Amino acid sequence: MQKRGITVLAVAVLFALYVQNEAVSSSRYIAMGNLQTVIHGETLFSTDIDEDRPTTGFLWCQVREGTIHYRPTWARFVRIRDQKQFVADIGNDNKAYLHFGKSKAEASGKYRCEVKVPDNSIITGNMFAYSHPIVKNNDSWSLKKDDTEPSTVVGPTVYTALDTTARIPCPIIGYPEPNILWYKDNIPLEIEGRVTFDKVNGVLSIGEITEQDAGNYRCEATNQFPVQIDGPEQEFIVKLKQELKVGDNYGWMLPLAIILIILILLFIIIFTCQRCAKYKADQYNVAERERALHNDQVPLKNSV
Ligand SMILES: *[C@@H]1O[C@H](CO)[C@@H](O)[C@H](O)[C@H]1NC(C)=O
Repeated sequence: MQKRGITVLAVAVLFALYVQNEAVSSSRYIAMGNLQTVIHGETLFSTDIDEDRPTTGFLWCQVREGTIHYRPTWARFVRIRDQKQFVADIGNDNKAYLHFGKSKAEASGKYRCEVKVPDNSIITGNMFAYSHPIVKNNDSWSLKKDDTEPSTVVGPTVYTALDTTARIPCPIIGYPEPNILWYKDNIPLEIEGRVTFDKVNGVLSIGEITEQDAGNYRCEATNQFPVQIDGPEQEFIVKLKQELKVGDNYGWMLPLAIILIILILLFIIIFTCQRCAKYKADQYNVAERERALHNDQVPLKNSV
């Protein structure tokens, strides 16, 4: 109980600091809030929705002057990353709420709560919606969970030709911004020279590919945050494994050969079927002719 009291005090002080920094004229007001929530969303990758995930909580903030809680005349939350605005729900308890419900990891980030108080000044405070790192996939890039290693997903094999630039994706979502490390055949990969990593798009590029570049690549994304406001920081990780295959420039020959073989088989089947039908038709005609011949002979025999 005492610990909780200390926490609330700590939150209040934090917000008081923000208020003083950002709205000096209203320093008699104190913004308070729950400071953080954790988004559960997906397990390992973005289409891997965890059915049993608990609903993510909410962020709330409130303006106080001494022991008075002001009912905000207006309140909103702004996500800092993309400046997206969310109108707050104002509860009967005079708190401004941002509910996350079954939000995905993409909703994570730093948020600014903005509350308008009776003297029309706007009090703000920063809050955090944390998410462990997840790999962002889509319909045309399917991932599957690795059954042998925890927190690991396997991506499709990346094919590349000699002397070209290979691109190995590792798009990660999470807050705080995950740190990404690369490994090739379990050895840390140096990001230098012809090997570059574009953090914004999450793509590793390897220029002037040689046979030696083929192998098993893995990116590991980690971040840390406290699950409870007064708890210790915990580390979260997701690993993505992809194989890079280096071919000559005839990688397209195999599918073409398969298509050709299917076409040839199809022709053979159609041809033999036609022959078969014709043979049957011939046999039928022979029988008919013989029957006709036979029938012709009947009256002759009878007439004898
Ligand atoms: C799907 O994800 C992959 C890997 O990040 C990316 O290269 C590709 O452009 C994405 N496709 C679509 C349709 O978003």
